[in-house]
Amino acid sequence: MNHLDFVFSDNIFIEMKITMVGAGYVGLTSAACLAKIGHQVVCVDKDTAKINTLKMGGMPIYEPGLQTIIKETTQSGNLIFDNNIGKAVSDSDVCFIAVGTPPLETGEPDLTGVEEVAREIANTMSDYLLIVEKSTVPVQTGKWIRKTIERYNRNRIPFDVASNPEFLREGSAVYDFLHPDRIVIGVETERARDLLVNVYRAINAPIIVTDIASAELIKHASNAFLAMKISFINAVAAICEAVGADVRQVALGMGMDKRIGRAFLDAGVGYGGFCFPKDLRAFIHIAEETGYNFQLLKEVEKINEDAKKRFVRKIRSVLWNLKGKTIGVLGLAFKPNTDDMRFAPSVDIINALLNEEAKIRAYDPKAMEKAKDLLPGVEFCSGPEEVAINADLLAIITEWEEFKQLNLKRIKNLMRLPIICDGRNIFERSEVEKLGFTYIGVGT
Ligand code: UDX
Repeated sequence: MNHLDFVFSDNIFIEMKITMVGAGYVGLTSAACLAKIGHQVVCVDKDTAKINTLKMGGMPIYEPGLQTIIKETTQSGNLIFDNNIGKAVSDSDVCFIAVGTPPLETGEPDLTGVEEVAREIANTMSDYLLIVEKSTVPVQTGKWIRKTIERYNRNRIPFDVASNPEFLREGSAVYDFLHPDRIVIGVETERARDLLVNVYRAINAPIIVTDIASAELIKHASNAFLAMKISFINAVAAICEAVGADVRQVALGMGMDKRIGRAFLDAGVGYGGFCFPKDLRAFIHIAEETGYNFQLLKEVEKINEDAKKRFVRKIRSVLWNLKGKTIGVLGLAFKPNTDDMRFAPSVDIINALLNEEAKIRAYDPKAMEKAKDLLPGVEFCSGPEEVAINADLLAIITEWEEFKQLNLKRIKNLMRLPIICDGRNIFERSEVEKLGFTYIGVGT
């Protein structure tokens, strides 16, 4: 099939019956949004506790706007939650696989969850079904899903496999799903293409129709490229610090070139989250398997590790010995508007500080529950001002909006030493210094 941009020639919406397997960030958001645009969606997960929470109106994750859509669509009957894949699948036109693919020790993603679901689908489907991989998976996974379903599909029920990677970001997942820059569809047949195009008919975005392997690679290459942009600007930030330049000005000037773009050029303490670190590892591994040593991406990873270490070095350079010093930490989640702590830079940074016997007092607006398990040596506080009490330094790790509005005069009076180490450049150096703080930014 040729690569083509699909353009709708009509406005007809056909309601479809959809199963979404997996109620994680991607699965839950996709299920709720597909229900919101008018489809009949059953979201299944084998985690009974999670499904029960959702059935009772609770949320297993914090994601702005998602709970409202779930409430609306469950009340209208468009979205239901269930534990039973079989029942949902036998009644569906399309089944999305959006289960987790956590990284193994080797960097390879663990695909046993995907295989298990493919087997269950094969065992339970009763009529033609389109099976769509939505989890970020290595190239060739589509082929394996097809093979698995062929093996276990004893009644020879016709089916198609497709790839439809998701590009949503945590914290803006609902908006991203409903307003994507593009929708990528990897298919092998016209029938699969038509079904998937219909799934997204109500969303106004260009649809790229391509083969399955290319669709899988679009996802890997996009995430790797974005991570590369972040590491690039973090490397530039190090040079800015050495020569007295301002990385924000450099990023602005670079970003005005349309070929580069300003997005993902914010220097900081490095990228985290469940996607970039995991997907980069996986992409490096996939490349290796094909015989290509993707050194560029290995360097992207290394610069990201360095960004965290450099932040700790800055703290050390201003406080000298860390033993016995109190460091207040603002922001723990890997980015604002989420409670996600997976691969959050805060964990490595705080552990490095704890290793040197610093005392850590921390606050995050949403991620403290999840952080408590990961950071047992930390004293958690009820807000930024409590964090500041008797602190020798205030470290900003996540750029939550509420930190930008802090009354720094009050904060200064609470601290033992007025020092701010701003890992996300949320403050203006001149303003903070005017208040009497020592200010350390990233590349500024
Ligand atoms: C990312 C991709 O953006 C999304 O398309 C994909 O589907 C999943 O992975 P997400 O992990 O939710 O989304 O967060 P994102 O907003 O991309 O940020 C990732 C990390 O990069 C965060 O830790 C963030 O703080 C960091 N980042 C981002 C920077 O350090 N600088 C930037 O300029 C942008």
